[in-house]
Parts: sequence; structure tokens; C-alpha cells
Amino acid sequence: MVLNLTTVELLNNTKSFTMFHENTYRKRRGDLRRQIAGGLILFPGNSEASFNYPANTYHFRQDSDFLYFFGLDHPDLAAVIDVDSGAETIFGNDVDMDDIIWMGHQPGMKDRAAKVGISNTLPMTKLSDVLGEALEKKRKIHYLPPYRGDNLLRISELLGTSPGMVKEGVSEDLIRAVVKLRIIKDEFEIKEIEFALDIAYEMHTTAMKMAKPGVVEREIAGTLEGIASSMGNGISFPIILSINGQTLHNHYHGNTLETGRMMVTDAGAESLLHYASDITRTVPVGGKFNGRQKEIYELVLKANTEAIKAIKPGRSNRDVHLLAAEIIASGLKDLGLMKGNIQEAVKKGAHALFFPHGLGHHMGLDVHDMEGLGENYVGYDHKTKRSEQFGLAFLRFGKEYEPGHVFTVEPGIYFIPALIDLWKSENKFKEFINYETVESYKDFGGIRIEDDLLVTSEGYKVLGKPIPKTIMEIEGIMRK
Ligand code: GLY
Ligand code: MN
Ligand code: MN
Repeated sequence: MVLNLTTVELLNNTKSFTMFHENTYRKRRGDLRRQIAGGLILFPGNSEASFNYPANTYHFRQDSDFLYFFGLDHPDLAAVIDVDSGAETIFGNDVDMDDIIWMGHQPGMKDRAAKVGISNTLPMTKLSDVLGEALEKKRKIHYLPPYRGDNLLRISELLGTSPGMVKEGVSEDLIRAVVKLRIIKDEFEIKEIEFALDIAYEMHTTAMKMAKPGVVEREIAGTLEGIASSMGNGISFPIILSINGQTLHNHYHGNTLETGRMMVTDAGAESLLHYASDITRTVPVGGKFNGRQKEIYELVLKANTEAIKAIKPGRSNRDVHLLAAEIIASGLKDLGLMKGNIQEAVKKGAHALFFPHGLGHHMGLDVHDMEGLGENYVGYDHKTKRSEQFGLAFLRFGKEYEPGHVFTVEPGIYFIPALIDLWKSENKFKEFINYETVESYKDFGGIRIEDDLLVTSEGYKVLGKPIPKTIMEIEGIMRK
């Protein structure tokens, strides 16, 4: 990558950019163009999204692909790359006096585009002319799957197709090309992710210190959200914080913390450039693990640390997921919750009663990186196909590790009363599960431990500064 002094200075002086050097964006677009046979590539940026009336909008979030290739973090932009001529154009309107009165001075489109190495700008009204001309000439227009209704309707209108047909016209070549680029993170992206992890460190250590009996979950969740907004660009996904950790994505924050419960906190932040962190820690309310909590916690911790140690280029995340599953099942057998041949139990999926989700997912500009492009394009390939088995089917990332991959390792053990009741009523896997013992854990809740990993040429690196994770570290910080 070509860097000038300004960028290097920026790197030394701040821990999170507001933008990469223009050459970074130029290179990404060039690499993309070389992978597409011909035609135009359309990137519609995001617009503001209304909340409870039109002018009251959610926190603006630019589209991640737009950020990756065009860097501009403003609403109401679109971009087109002409693969055949190499021309790159950003569409958007200069601000008028009304905008200046309400929002202050804004740079013009030419200045904005120049920051990402683009000299051609056109007003937004010209986008339909440019695409219309290409359609007349029967040129291919590549676009990615839209995930917002307004952009889906916009594509439908621009391409003269019905809204129901927009998904049919998505370019698989473009999806594959974008995934190939975005899935490998460079050193500057890693710095951004580590900055997002510095924020996560503050969020999680604060949650640990606040987890005392009598505190309501929302007091902690709200404090964490404030930390994410004060240090970076806010949260990278809605905070999961609950004493009912057996519900995997529990966004209800109305429970009062009680001694005897474990609190799961799954939370991360965005750096100023919108790179994510995603960390889970589980702590005993009040700061002291009881005997049963210790046993289950140590087991999840072992699955987390052994899985991490197994990471190296060429090994598949599917294999490491199964390694974590086997550690969990074998430990549950020691505790009398499972029985029988553990390898066979894992092969058949019996452990999924307790560990019903995947070991992790890629992470980058999206916390579930590029999930909107299609999980299987990101996490699977011709060598590793997705399983249909309950539990393993939820593994978002199964393929082999490559240097530059950034992803989460997040095993867990959960006691989900409704799932236990269902499987028990069906006598499901009764050769592997001791339902009588499992019954006595129905009030336990759940435990998940999640870290963010980078694959290096030799092995792995756990990103960010270590957040208390062992029982001793957690009890230590909670005493403070
Ligand atoms: N953001 C929830 C998770 O994947 O951990
Ligand atoms: Mn998470
Ligand atoms: Mn995660």
C-alpha cells in the first residue's frame, strides 16, 4: 500500500482515523475492477432512516461496501465504476443554503470526492441518465443485495425492474469479488479493530464493576452504550446484556440483578471508521462464582482457549468448532449431564442442546462481516459446505483460515428450558443426555465467552488488550 507522510502521522497521532489515505480507496477499487469482466458497478450509499416521523432519524450508518470502496460517511450518495473505461463517479448534491442553516457549512461534492481519489462528481439526478444509457446499450449493471427498503426501491426504479425482481438481478460476480477483498484485513484495518476493542475493554470492565445485586440491567447497558458513543462511533450491534443469558440474543434489559444469576454481556463498539469489535463476558452477579457456576464456566473457558490455540492457516473453522463442541460435550459428561460415546454424540449433534450456535463469524466493517452479501459466500466455499444439522447449521464461518481473517471465537453453554422440554418429550438423544440431571440446571441461565481473533502467517493473535476472562481475573476486578 502506498502511504504518504500525512497518513503515517495520522497513524502515530491518533488511534482511529476519520478516513484512510485516498490511495487505499483507489487500490481497493482497482482490485475490484480487475475481478469484474465488464459493465458498470453501482454502489448506492445509505440515506437517513426515519424513526418516528420523517425528520427524526436514527443514528446515520453508511453502507459498509460504500465505506470500503468510497470512504465517504455521508447520506444520499451513490457511486458508479465503469469497469470497461475505468471511470469512477460519485453522485450527490452540493448543499444549499437551507442545509447550511440547519447543519452548518459542508464541503462540496468535488472536495469530498477528491479525498478518496475521485475527480468525477455528478448531481444525483444524473444517476438515472447514466444507468439508463448503459441499459439501452445492454451493458451489465452489477449491484449487491440491498438490505434497506429504500435502496431496493431505488434500484428497482433506476433499473426499470419490479421491486420483487431486484434480488434476482444481484451480481454474484460482484459479491464474490467484494468478499475476496474485504475478508482479508490489512494492518490499518487491524488497528481500527483494535481501537474498537479498546472501547470494548472499557465497556466490559465497567459492566463487571457494575454487576451488583439490585442493579437493573438497563443501568449497565445504557452506561456501556454511552461509553461506545463517547469513545468511538457507538455500538456495533444492539447490546445483549442479561441475567437470562440462555436466550442467545437477549435485548430485554428490564431485569434486576440477583445473587446466584450469571450476567452475560455481549457488546462491542465501532471505531470512527466503523470497524467493529464483538466481545462477550459472563460474570456472576455480586462478583463470586458458586460451585456450579465455576464448573460450567471453566468448561466454556476451556472451549474458548483450546479453540483459539488450534487456529492456524489451513485449518478450517468448522474443525475448530467441532473441537470446541467436543470439549463441551466431554466436560458435560464429566459433570453427569451427558453420557455415552462423546465423539459419536458430537457427530450426531447431541451437544447442540447446550451449545446450539456456531463458534463464530467474520468481523470487520460489519460485526457479522458482509452477512448481507450472503453468509455462505463469506463463510463457506467449494471445499467446505454448510451442514444442515441443528447447531452446526448455525455456524456462519466454516471454511479454512487464511492470514488476514478476523473473526470471533464464542463458545457457550446454555440451559434453555423450552428446548430441554422439547427434546426430553421426544426422547431425543436419550443415549447421550441425562435428562434427569439436566432438569436441575433449568434455572442456570447461560455462559458465553467471546474474543476477536486474527489469523497470522504462523497461527493467530487475540486482538485487543486482554479483558478479564479467568475466574480469578473476573473475581479480582469485581471486588474493586
Ligand atoms: N453480535 C452477536 C454475536 O454474534 O456475538
Ligand atoms: Mn457477540
Ligand atoms: Mn459474535
